[in-house]
Order: sequence, then structure tokens, then C-alpha cells
Amino acid sequence: EKCGFEHFMLKEICEQPKALRDTLRARYKDGSLSFPVQIENLLENCKHLLITGCGTAYHAAMVASYVIEQVAGLPVEVLVASELRYRPHIRKEGEVCLLISQSGETADTIASLRLLKELGIPTIALTNVVGCTLSREADWVLYTQAGPEIAVASTKAFTTQLLSLFTIASLIAKQERSGLLEALDQLPGKTQLLIDRQEDIQRFAASQFNKTKVFFMGRLVDFAISLESALKLKEISYTHSEAFAAGELKHGPIALVDTSTLVVALCTQPSLYAKMDSNIKEVKARGATALVITFEDVHTFDDTADAIFRLPQTHPLFSPVLSVIVSQLYAYYCSVLKGNDPDKPRNLAKSVTVE
Ligand code: F6R
Repeated sequence: EKCGFEHFMLKEICEQPKALRDTLRARYKDGSLSFPVQIENLLENCKHLLITGCGTAYHAAMVASYVIEQVAGLPVEVLVASELRYRPHIRKEGEVCLLISQSGETADTIASLRLLKELGIPTIALTNVVGCTLSREADWVLYTQAGPEIAVASTKAFTTQLLSLFTIASLIAKQERSGLLEALDQLPGKTQLLIDRQEDIQRFAASQFNKTKVFFMGRLVDFAISLESALKLKEISYTHSEAFAAGELKHGPIALVDTSTLVVALCTQPSLYAKMDSNIKEVKARGATALVITFEDVHTFDDTADAIFRLPQTHPLFSPVLSVIVSQLYAYYCSVLKGNDPDKPRNLAKSVTVE
């Protein structure tokens, strides 16, 4: 079943180009977007989008909030499902809720769905499992085409969620759609270029896996991917990892930065390269090792970073699909180097069906 791969996680990381191609094909045909007409109407008339999920799915929601607000000008609120279900919810006019869950069986996400339905808010599930509870109970459903995800740590489910969310953003985009669609169309192929370079990440992991603290920082979508990267690393390598919005560095996290710290700076937002560069200088001045993840043609960090991992160029809002693959591979190799089983991390279950 592992098809020659040592672990399901690595297999699933490597399956991303295909999973993304399959997911895109379901929503984008012959140069135009294709959604069930009711979902298209709902999204086009939506005035306020609420997105929820848990863990990795919540991080996908966070990325989507930046992208949808920027390209579609639609206000987006993001809440973790375990909070949403216990928080008094004030219904907004024209509100629609999108619930994201790979398994479609997560207790908090299902409880949130039931609450929103009681309030009369239209719901759309984004899930990977046909016939799951979420798909049966939501008003409408969109599927990711990731195929079965066996490893506990989510990889291809996350990037296919992102791609689906980007197609939604493109559908309701106020700006010219063609540039977005062209970038989306090229995204699966670009992930393959990264996977082909996994040995570079393996080598970097071999030099860093014994670091006791790893911090991920970034701004906007890079902040969301910092959270996802830290989650992945702690889940399977049991390394203490944290993430913060880079601008928050001076408001606390810098107190923990010392020579035993690896700081991974995600830098894919061109207007913020200079800000990120000063954050990196600040951590370097305290003895940290800095890995920068940026696009291939960027040279802002050449003199600051200890190591740079370069991503193929894409629309900066779509960078999460690429940058997260670097983090997935980094977490995977750290886990293996530490002698862990990345497929079955301690204390974690694939689907959290009880609170
Ligand atoms: C992290 C991970 C979890 C899940 C979360 C939600 O790698 O897999 O954080 O993302 O438990 O699961 P689903 O998407 O099935 O609702």
C-alpha cells in the first residue's frame, strides 16, 4: 500500500501534484470555473463569509481569509470550530458558512455546523470523504480530490483544501480572473518541482533536527503557514515549535531566541520583504540560525539568512501551497531522523470524533 515509500506521510506528500491536479480538474474545466449552480449563487450573493475548522483545516481557513478578502473584497471571519460552537454567534446579513474538514467527522466542526443551521445560516462543507457526516448534514458540499489520507499528519488534504479555497476566491473575484486562473492552473506542476528537490530539505533537516526550539514567523498568508508548519513539526518530531506573526517578535517571542533556536522565516509577500529582513536580523543578532523560504528570484535575504530555500514563482497569494510542502518535508525528515514513526505520532488520532 505504501507503493515503495517508507511511510504513508512521504507517499502522501509526494502525491500532492496529482491530488492538486485532480482537485483543480473538478472545479476548472476548459479555461473556466465550474461550480454547482446553487453554490455559485450562494457565494456570489454572500455578504459575509464565516470559515471554520480544526487544526490544519483551520489554517486553511486562515489562508483563505486573506486571499478571499484581497481578491474578492468580501469580509471573511475565521473561527476555530471548538470556539465557534461555544461562542454566542451574532448572525450577519447575507452570511454564509464554509466548514472545512478532511474527514468530515470532527466533533467540533459537526457541532458548529448544527449550531449554524439552527441559526438559519446557509452552510457549505469542504471535505475529502464522500458521504461523511459533514457532507450529509451541510446544505451543500464541495469535495477535495486528495484520495485517502492515511498518515495522521495532514498533508495532501491541506493543499487540496487550499486549492479549492483559491478556486472559490477566483469565482467571486472582483478583479480580472484570468491571471488568477492561469496561476492556479500552473500550481500543481510547481509542487512537483519542490518534491523533486526533497533531498535539499532532507540535508537541511539532518543539520538541524537536534535543535530544541524551532520558531516559524511570517506575515499575512505566511503567518498562517507558519502556524501550520509549527503544528506539523511538533506533531511528528516532538520538537518544541511555535509560530507567530513576524511583527509580534518584539512583543514577546524574542525573549526565547538564543543560539539553540532555529527560526524559519516565510517570506513570500513582496511588499513585506524589507520588514521580514529586519526581523531576521533581530533573531540572528541573538544567535539563532535562520532559514528563509522565499521565491527563486528574490535576493533580499542573501546576506542575512544562514540558508535559503527557493520556491518556484507563483502569485504571492498562492504561495502557501508551495511553502507548506517545504515544511511538511522538513517535519517528516526531522521525525525520521529522531527515530519516530511519522505516520502514527504519539497521543494523536486521525480523526477527532469526540471532544
Ligand atoms: C494535523 C491534523 C489535524 C486535523 C484536525 C482536523 O496534521 O491532521 O490538526 O487537521 O484534527 O481534522 P479534519 O480535517 O478531519 O476535521
